[in-house]
Amino acid sequence: MKVVITRAIPDSLKQLLDQSCTTYMWNEDIEPMPRALLLEQVKDADAIFTNVSDRIDLEVFQAAAKLKVVGTMAVGFDNIDIAEATRRGIPVGHTPDVLSEAVADLTFALMLATARKVVEGMNYILEGSWRGWGPMLLTGQNIYNATLGIIGMGGIGQGVARRACGFGMRILYHNRRRREELEQQLGAEYSPLDELLQASDFVVMLAPATPETRKMIGKRELSLMKSNAILVNTSRGSNVDEAALFTALKERTIWGAGLDVFEKEPIRPDHPLLTLENVVVLPHIGSATLETRFNMAKITAQNILQGLKGEPLLYCINQESYLKSGEEIK
Ligand code: GLV
Ligand code: GLV
Repeated sequence: MKVVITRAIPDSLKQLLDQSCTTYMWNEDIEPMPRALLLEQVKDADAIFTNVSDRIDLEVFQAAAKLKVVGTMAVGFDNIDIAEATRRGIPVGHTPDVLSEAVADLTFALMLATARKVVEGMNYILEGSWRGWGPMLLTGQNIYNATLGIIGMGGIGQGVARRACGFGMRILYHNRRRREELEQQLGAEYSPLDELLQASDFVVMLAPATPETRKMIGKRELSLMKSNAILVNTSRGSNVDEAALFTALKERTIWGAGLDVFEKEPIRPDHPLLTLENVVVLPHIGSATLETRFNMAKITAQNILQGLKGEPLLYCINQESYLKSGEEIK
């Protein structure tokens, strides 16, 4: 069995795969595996160990005639043609749950950094501007007791809500389906999207990228937000209309934004958003703690090993791919 690993993974996990498979690993941390090399290497591959920066589309599936399983080291899978994988009976594994707390932490980091001008404050000192204490110097927004609107109440949203309890926040949430059990547990209130946008001091976007969530926050939605409101996006850039966000921030119809994700990644220093003071940006590092990234890689390896044995994956996106016709999806 051959596994193509499209990015460097920890030695111990590569060794785990090497015990029962032949592996090809693209041994880089930051440079994505070149597309042509990927298409070449998957020709005789039984499994692909992938991540958010590879496009696993029809062309890849057509090139990989022997493919039995795909494992992505991520919770999001908008880069993978799941319908095509399912049609071919190929299970696709991902890594939810293990990263929820790390992403919730980073979401809060962006809320705090944006509201309290943490980056601007450090830059202010670095550029030699600090002359002394000022009553209104670098004044920001309160987080404590503010109203938080969470869009997408999955594992990460729940983690953010739990943190928000400690900050005395009123918690609103919007989700495809109402989660009444969580309302009790977290003291969260279900809200239609427009009402959430109108009432929140912080709007946190955590929905997965789907055709329905594409540009879910656009010009109209931004216009509903309060002038003191901060938008935080730690999900996918495609969920927010970046041009509309730029205008809202520039005209200060909203107060600020904290962004870990962008419509097209990576962004460069000449990106329009970086000309604004009221934005804090990060290079898609939501789940990037040592422990979390190791655990994500480990679950990805386990998903692949299960798939190669023809057994159910730990976390499968398309369970229907390995049900024989007539069986029910649980
Ligand atoms: C990262 O963005 C992920 O989907 O895990
Ligand atoms: C600020 O440092 C204060 O003492 O109010």
